[in-house]
This record gives sequence, structure tokens and C-alpha cells, in this order.
Amino acid sequence: MALEVVILAAGQGTRMKSDLPKVLHPLGGRPLLAHVVATARALSPARTVVIYGHGGKRVTAALPEPDLVWVEQAERLGTGHAVQQALPVLDPAATVLVLYGDVPLIRAETLRALVARAGPDTLALLTVELDEPAGYGRILRDAGGRVTAIREDKDATEAERRVREINTGILAVGAGRLAGWLQRLSNDNAQGEYYLTDIVAMAVADGVAVETVQPADPDEVLGANSKAQLAHLERVYQRRRAGDLMDQGVTLLDPARLDVRGTVRAGRDVVIDVNVVLAGEVVLGDGVSIGAGCVLRDVTVGDGAEILPLCVIEEAVIGPGSRVGPYSRIRPGTRLDDGVHVGNFVEVKNSTIGRGSKVNHLSYIGDTDMGSGVNIGAGTITCNYDGANKHRTVIEDDVFVGSDVQLVAPVTVGRGATIGAGSTITRDAPPGELTLSRARQTTRPGWKRPKKGG
Ligand code: UD1
Ligand code: CA
Repeated sequence: MALEVVILAAGQGTRMKSDLPKVLHPLGGRPLLAHVVATARALSPARTVVIYGHGGKRVTAALPEPDLVWVEQAERLGTGHAVQQALPVLDPAATVLVLYGDVPLIRAETLRALVARAGPDTLALLTVELDEPAGYGRILRDAGGRVTAIREDKDATEAERRVREINTGILAVGAGRLAGWLQRLSNDNAQGEYYLTDIVAMAVADGVAVETVQPADPDEVLGANSKAQLAHLERVYQRRRAGDLMDQGVTLLDPARLDVRGTVRAGRDVVIDVNVVLAGEVVLGDGVSIGAGCVLRDVTVGDGAEILPLCVIEEAVIGPGSRVGPYSRIRPGTRLDDGVHVGNFVEVKNSTIGRGSKVNHLSYIGDTDMGSGVNIGAGTITCNYDGANKHRTVIEDDVFVGSDVQLVAPVTVGRGATIGAGSTITRDAPPGELTLSRARQTTRPGWKRPKKGG
């Protein structure tokens, strides 16, 4: 039977105390809603309908995926009213699964089990037992254990409040039945809202079976209503990601001190030290090691490369067997070939560095095409910016640049050239020659250093 997913995402999230709509707060670097959409997609539904309201265009713009159907709930009159908004676009013969844009950790396997129980004449509810059920709708059952209703906390009696089995809000049912019940909802309750949960008593009255399913892990149904809850979800999410990486064979020195904000593909025998952040799309080849405190965003690291501690690397390719850091900053557009060494306090931007070249200390290499076998001395700077435009520096194969050199772009240093330490190079340096620009050194014989009061 066809499946339709409806995601409720119209809430304001007052307790977040933020201008950002609640469902756009990031978890693992992506909006909460994007996680729910991705999980929905794993179920291959015919359609995914997102009910949005608060934040309007900001919400729709944040998820520009063409397969989503956006339906606005102009007034937030309750969860039942929210689902009602989707009815015109739903196939009446389909099963409808209701999810929440702020409940991001729900697993596809759990939802599959729930949907498998639902049908045209079966309502399936996802429930959990909580030690502290306050605030949630309670699952009420008769003496035979059959579900009779969901009672919202604010409408519950003392005895009902003692029930520990709660409604997660996630449910699945045939669209035809759902449509009929939603039309009959009233808002005659403590909050003056149209409660989706009231369909349970209607289902019972109509002789429709109500089944319950529990998630494998209760964390799956947690919502993010406050920054504290969001932080908790982030830790749960990061624990899962670390678990996935370890399952792939990655060695994590401490799974609690890795943050993944994107996708990571890792080869065999990858080792990641503590306090590393991997963002965007990160690809780590076989035998790669990442030192403590590194931040990598959209980076490919070749086999056997070693990233020493405290590097920041973004939109770059690090060649196999290269060694970067400690304390290197590799900026977008950088490509290091095989066996390149980039050392401490070196910044590289929008540059290619050829096989086996070394920039080991305190340098800035920007907008540069560097060949192979080059050695760049400490404190070398490519002066790529004239205040208005950026220019490129070309350093051909086997060049040796002494320490404290400025290469004023546009400039080319020819193959095999040597540049003397302390030079400011403003014109092309010919291949194979020593070029230097240096004030002549003088000594004043007999010169006396001034003395105080003298
Ligand atoms: C709801 C359930 C409760 C359950 C709890 C689980 C109802 C009536 N109650 O209560 O049984 O235990 O979730 O967390 O369903 N939303 C809209 N439009 C609206 C109202 C809500 O999109 O008009 C969205 C909210 O943004 C939120 C979700 O629906 O993501 C739940 O709404 P909320 O009012 O927070 O429900 P609860 O009172 O927590
Ligand atoms: Ca409410």
C-alpha cells in the first residue's frame, strides 16, 4: 500500500528563545527538519508533506528539495488541525505516517515496524514508557489492555497522570479513516486546540483496531523544545555517528570527543584523536590519522596521510602520504599532491603544491602553483594581493626558496632556481640560477653603542 508522510513543522519553539524557526535549529550541522525528511525518504513514500507555519519562507527555503510538498498552516490550532491541512493532497487509499519536524532521531526501522502494523482499519501508535511522563499525552487502556484513548496531560485526572506509557505523537493509519476522524475533531479541551490524539477514541468507537509499537531506543522520540534538549539530542546523535564510524573500523581515541556535521567516508585503519570536528563531506583514505583538535570541512585526505594536531582544513584535497600540521591552516581551493609536507603556522589558500614539496614553517602560500620537489624556507610569503586584485605565483619544480622571502605576484620562479634568504622578488627569477635581492651588509668598525646620560 502507498505510504504518505506528513511532517508537522509549524511550531514556533518559544522555549528556544531564538529568531530561528525551531525546526531549522541545527543538529549535527543540519536543520532538525532535514533529519526527519531524510528518515522519511528512507521509507520511499509516495509523497512527503511538510506542514509549515512559523518561519514561513525561511523554512521552505532551508530545504529546497523538489520532492517535498509544502502546505502552510496559517494558524496553529493544534496537531489535529495541522494534519487536516494535508488532507487535500493525500491519497485516500494510502497509509499516512505522521512525524514531527522537531523529533529528529527517529529511526527508519522503527517507522517501518509502525507502518507495517497500520492499515485501512488499523491505527498504529508509537508509544514509550517514561519514569517521568509529566507533560505528555497518556495512553489509556481498558482492563483487557486494549487502548481506549490518549489523554493530554492538561486534561488528565490524577489517576490518568500516573500512567507511564505516553504518546510520542508518531502514528500511522489509513488516510480514508483519518480524514473522517479529523473532520469530527472539536477543540473543547483545556488548551482549546484540535488534538490529533482525539482520533484514538474515535477509532475505538468505530471499532478500528489500535496497535502500539515501541522504539528500540527511547531517545528516538525525544523532541527539541529548548536549547538544553537540543544539546542532549546533539550528544545522542554524535554517539550514533561515532558508533557508525567504529562499526566501519575507524579507531576513535574517544567516541565522546568527535563531532560529525556531515558525511564521513573512511577507509581501513583510520585513527582519529580527540576533539576533532568533521563537517561537510569528508573522505579519509586508508591509514589516515587525524590529530587532536583538528577541524576538517569538505576535505579529501589520501591514503596514509597524517594530519597532526590543531589544523583547520577546508575545501581541500590532501594527497596520499602527505603530512600537515601541527597548527596548519589549509583554506579552500588547495590541492596537495602526494607526500607534501605543510608544517606549523603555515597558511595555504587556493594553491596547488606538487609531489614531495615542503613548506614547513611560518609561511603564507596563496594563489600559487607550486611544482614538485620544492623547498620553501621559513617565513616565506606570497604577496598575492595588491590591494585591489589577486595575482598568482608560479614556483616551478625543484626550486629552493630561502627563509624570509617575499614573492610579489604575479611572478614566476623558474625550474631549479634558488632564491636567497631575505629577498623580495618582484620580477621573474630565471631557472637554475641564484636570484637574490638584499641590501648589502656593512660593518662600522669602532662604532660605540650610546650610553645613558652620556
Ligand atoms: C503532543 C501530543 C501528546 C504527545 C506529545 C509528544 C497532541 C494533542 N498531543 O503534545 O499526546 O505526548 O506531542 O511530544 O497531539 N504543531 C503544528 N501545528 C499546530 C500544533 C502543533 O505544527 O497547530 C507541531 C508542533 O510544532 C510540534 C508538534 O506539532 O512539533 C507537537 O505540538 P505540541 O503542541 O508541542 O504538542 P504537545 O502539546 O507536546
Ligand atoms: Ca500543545
